[in-house]
Amino acid sequence: MSNRFPDGFLWGGALAANQVEGAYQEDGKGLSTSDMQPNGIFGPVTARQPGDFSIKDVAIDFYHRYPQDIALFSEMGFTCLRVSIAWTRIFPNGDDAQPNEAGLAWYDKLFDELARHNIQPLVTLSHYEMPWALVENYGGWGNRKLIAFFERYARTVFERYRDKVKLWLTFNEINMSLHAPLTGVGLLGDCTTTEIYQAIHHQLVASGLAVKACHEIIPDARIGNMLLGGLMYPLSCKPADIFATLQENHSWQFFGDIQCRGAYPGYMTRYFRDNGITLNIEPADLEALRHTVDFISFSYYMTGCVTADADLGEKLRGNILDMVPNPHLESSEWGWQIDPLGLRTLLNVLWDRYQKPLFIVENGLGANDQPAADGRIHDDYRISYMNDHLVQVREAIDDGVEVLGYTSWGPIDIISASKAEVAKRYGFIYVDLQQDGSGTLNRSRKDSFWWYQQVIKTHGAALKP
Ligand code: BG6
Repeated sequence: MSNRFPDGFLWGGALAANQVEGAYQEDGKGLSTSDMQPNGIFGPVTARQPGDFSIKDVAIDFYHRYPQDIALFSEMGFTCLRVSIAWTRIFPNGDDAQPNEAGLAWYDKLFDELARHNIQPLVTLSHYEMPWALVENYGGWGNRKLIAFFERYARTVFERYRDKVKLWLTFNEINMSLHAPLTGVGLLGDCTTTEIYQAIHHQLVASGLAVKACHEIIPDARIGNMLLGGLMYPLSCKPADIFATLQENHSWQFFGDIQCRGAYPGYMTRYFRDNGITLNIEPADLEALRHTVDFISFSYYMTGCVTADADLGEKLRGNILDMVPNPHLESSEWGWQIDPLGLRTLLNVLWDRYQKPLFIVENGLGANDQPAADGRIHDDYRISYMNDHLVQVREAIDDGVEVLGYTSWGPIDIISASKAEVAKRYGFIYVDLQQDGSGTLNRSRKDSFWWYQQVIKTHGAALKP
């Protein structure tokens, strides 16, 4: 086995507009769902008042500091940077007659800066945000009209950036909508399961239409989906646990099944029937779903367990999202269970299932980094986490899995999504920022910066098995 990753493997990092850009009302940007959730995607909606404070309003000020940040990424040797376009910079209200030229121009500058450093952009069309006006005035993705609004947005950016962006993703972690309906599909308040699946259906149709548009407008581009890689293990080898695990995995795999195979799988039809869920699906929708993605991208942070025993499951369920913890795994400071081998398993599972190239577009360790006496961040824990995960990626490639690249989550410290925390840092680059907004926003290199630089330079040969 070679200890080098294949030539052409893309190395880099991943960011989301609402977690880094700031400038939340600059150059005509409209308010997004993220702007209305200052405490993160699991926090309440807060009406914005003039002069109020949300850490995301400025975030790490990437909007103004991107040239210096990209220079640092380049110094690490990045060949790829995943970013997202804020829909509200292009169509501030979602249903505007014309796109906002100032917003389009800003992303031109961003992509040009990346090109100057030979860093290929991988662009997510929608990463955990959408125009707030579409939630207020249309009821979010529950409304079929959103499909056309999104398609117009997608076509606008494909046309504009056709010569600059050749790698695209549709919706970030599209399978999270079941857990975060406002962030995922713009549904407010209590909603029924049927309403959530109807909104998801509209979004899946929009995803298919975006794939179609991308293929028409930029024939040499590739467009992928983006899944939360939520691999679950059975808590025991009892057949009932095995079957419950299959069903739990189906609950997220169904998104990928539609986006990769072009139709609802039979197990979902049965699930809808058994649970009295009737969706409004039009013939044109089925046609749109047939436009399948070119590759599959996913985030990977943890695995969890499933038991068919409801009482036991209730007892064991801790603060690790909603999952039954695995007694064989350690956890991060935030209770996310660390499972490098699970990444190899997941890569194999997805490859076996779809035979489409895979791209790991998020992975990393959120930690409360503290400067040492010398003022620097010695983040050996992050190095060890990432080393072990990358070793498993290399193993999966050796298993025959086609992997296009790896973009670590938050290569520079960003605002976390779940609770808008600054303390949950993922970066190779430290940002001087505190939760109350204080700090110089200065950037400095952590130990992991030099480590990742070495890994990229050696095509992975510097990893410790
Ligand atoms: C993924 C999201 O779910 O996880 C990112 O796509 C998010 O936006 C990341 O930041 C890590 O979650 P958190 O809450 O630690 O930021």
